[in-house]
Amino acid sequence: MADFHIRLLRAEESLPLELLLSADPSVDAIQVYLPNSKVYIAETTGNVIGVYVLFSINAQEAEIKNIAVDEAHQRQGIGTLLLKHAIRLATEQGFKKLLIGTSNASVGQLYLYQKMGFELSDIKFNFFIDNYTEPIIENGVQCKHMIMLSTTLK
Ligand code: ACO
Repeated sequence: MADFHIRLLRAEESLPLELLLSADPSVDAIQVYLPNSKVYIAETTGNVIGVYVLFSINAQEAEIKNIAVDEAHQRQGIGTLLLKHAIRLATEQGFKKLLIGTSNASVGQLYLYQKMGFELSDIKFNFFIDNYTEPIIENGVQCKHMIMLSTTLK
């Protein structure tokens, strides 16, 4: 695994848009949640190799709206470390519940999130059909529904 550290992206720094778009292909959707979010990046010397976006829903609940690892660095445990970081940070910030959503077709992500302690909490039916202009296909299956998972923070 690459030597990296995770830190808050400062307001004046540019967003790792390509990474954000790999998790959420809509610039419009990203722009809706960014103002109420904090962006954390995983960086090696000079390179951003991962990102997650922590969105504040209310005083009790936060949501990881976007998480992505650069393709060359995937499947090395960095996504797991980003999720652990998000859980720790959200707990320290006083949130009681952390949510994350992914599509019905995203089997790897569903596996990863459940392995990290998130449990199925809701399904937003037809979310990707209603909110995205182009069909999104993953693993040969159309992304139609948003599967919401959540974990209680202690
Ligand atoms: N396909 C299959 N399995 C996966 C996938 C995938 N795309 N992603 C994670 N997994 C599973 C694997 O089983 C893996 O364990 P293994 O390699 O021992 O089999 C396990 O999750 C842990 O993976 P990590 O190495 O910790 O995760 P990684 O660094 O690859 O990051 C991430 C996971 C962020 C999902 C990465 O694959 C990625 O950036 N994908 C593209 C963008 C994306 O789909 N982001 C999530 C969208 S949902 C959202 O943003 C809220």
